[in-house]
Amino acid sequence: MYRSHNCGQLNASHINQEVTLAGWVQKSRNKGFMIWVDLRDRYGITQLIFDEQRTQKEVLELATTLGREFVIQVKGTVIERESKNAAMATGDIEILVSELTVLNASITPPFTIEDETDGGEDIRMKYRYLDIRRNPVKNSLLFRHKVAMEVRNYLSAQNFVEVETPVLIKSTPEGARDFVVPSRMNQGQFYALPQSPQTFKQLLMVGGMDKYFQIVKCFRDEDLRADRQPEFTQIDCEMAFVEQEDIIQTFEGLASHLLKQVKGIDTGAFPRMTYDEAMKKYGNDKPDIRFGMEFGELNAVAQHKDFAVFNNSELVVGIAVPGAASYTRKQIDELIEWVKRPQVGASGMVYAKYEADGSIKSSVDKFYDAADLQQWAQITGAQPGDLIVVLSGDAHKTRTRLSALRMELATRLGLRNPEVFAPLWVVDFPLLEWDEDSQRFHAMHHPFTSPKPEDISLLETNPGAVRANAYDLVLNGNEIGGGSIRIHDKATQALMFKYLGFTEEQAKAQFGFLMDAFQYGAPPHGGLAFGFDRLVAILGGQETIRDFIAFPKNNSGRDVMIDAPSTIDETQLTELHIKLRG
Ligand code: AMO
Repeated sequence: MYRSHNCGQLNASHINQEVTLAGWVQKSRNKGFMIWVDLRDRYGITQLIFDEQRTQKEVLELATTLGREFVIQVKGTVIERESKNAAMATGDIEILVSELTVLNASITPPFTIEDETDGGEDIRMKYRYLDIRRNPVKNSLLFRHKVAMEVRNYLSAQNFVEVETPVLIKSTPEGARDFVVPSRMNQGQFYALPQSPQTFKQLLMVGGMDKYFQIVKCFRDEDLRADRQPEFTQIDCEMAFVEQEDIIQTFEGLASHLLKQVKGIDTGAFPRMTYDEAMKKYGNDKPDIRFGMEFGELNAVAQHKDFAVFNNSELVVGIAVPGAASYTRKQIDELIEWVKRPQVGASGMVYAKYEADGSIKSSVDKFYDAADLQQWAQITGAQPGDLIVVLSGDAHKTRTRLSALRMELATRLGLRNPEVFAPLWVVDFPLLEWDEDSQRFHAMHHPFTSPKPEDISLLETNPGAVRANAYDLVLNGNEIGGGSIRIHDKATQALMFKYLGFTEEQAKAQFGFLMDAFQYGAPPHGGLAFGFDRLVAILGGQETIRDFIAFPKNNSGRDVMIDAPSTIDETQLTELHIKLRG
């Protein structure tokens, strides 16, 4: 038996008991006549004590050789501590050691393995297994496990079955590039790793599984950001014989359950907003509604004066920044520089200070009088003391820019409180999205999404206006899930592929299996997938998903610990019939 208890377990009720513990040496203090060691395992830290008077000489000597991260086993007696530490679960006691075994030595770790570490991000990624010994990382993984268990329990209780789907498949278009795997047995042919199990879960519905879920790895070769990894995990779900409302109800139930169980929060019914409304009010299809700062469109009151910039703009739109009328010239200039950065791309920013005394002064006083500016205040909802900031230009781009500014200001003003949770359904997404590069329409969600029946007739005349039975679940400004009601008949699916620019042959070659399946009594069905890493990170009060993944990739898509991706040897290449160029 390596241990009778763990390192987080013992307290005053165990005093005088003989115990055996095992763990890592977090640190030791040697006063010569007395040595204290902090022994750590997953469960906590227990203080060990060796002393000249009560510990055998050989044991004391061995204790002097212990270095950081040595793995040891000790036997001893639980005794009351002289100086108690109320901040520690085991802070009332210590172990007077009688036997010490070094199970394994350790070389000096490259950073301190404590809550506050001296190790930078890169070094901690390289030695991720050591980082996992630290509380912040360990606790994130335990938290992830807890959320996963809640998901499994909840969905199982609702009659969902977890079914595994294959990883070596054919391309599933979710809008990113595929990772591909060459096939040795089929020369010149490749598998694609799933961007999601989309087609398989639909086939499970054809197979009569009725309610499916899977906590599943997905792979997308796309540029990385804080909320994106090339391999990530979804809670993937699908149901048969459902309409959009059934899906929304079911998964609102799951999300509410998680908020309640994991955070102790009751949010009540989640609000819903159409895509059009979200874009108009927040310039964003995943608005953070923890705070206001809704867009006010100013075309009617700011155009047709002598200000050419606004007159020549498709959209003039502003927001009221709470309490920011007190910003100095320097602060405002800095904001203007911020919106002009290439990442945001605005050519400038107009502003008006709504002073506490009710007067308004703007950066364009030449063109607008007090009555005009009062209208700006009314439309943006500005109160005395607020700053009104206004952008103008192409409608879509201007909305996106103002949205970026809104989020930045909210962050600066501390309005994005990670302990406040504001879920939101965004519904009625457009079915198609115009792609400038390829000069054609793409599926906004994916090609299996069903158009709203009442909009189908628009497909020929105004494809951009067709709405889909598609919805996203947004939490605190992050898209944590998305799904749709699917097309379930061959003719409509074939038509959709045609609108998306597939020839009949291409559609058949890539998705013939799905269209074939639709001929054998495919039930109406729909579903959604949560981004599990994102969901866990946000519930954990953060937006960087890397911290909640045991072995994540860095921003270049590399695993710096195992050094992947890497080259493979000539023999392997030959077997795979691959010749490298150059
Ligand atoms: P979608 O592409 O919207 O839908 O993905 C679902 C959710 O997965 C998360 N997500 C990611 N998380 C981390 N890293 C990434 N690279 C990444 N990409 C996406 C997001 C997103 O909301 N098959 C459909 C679902 C369906 O229609 O049922 C799908 O995959 O949180």
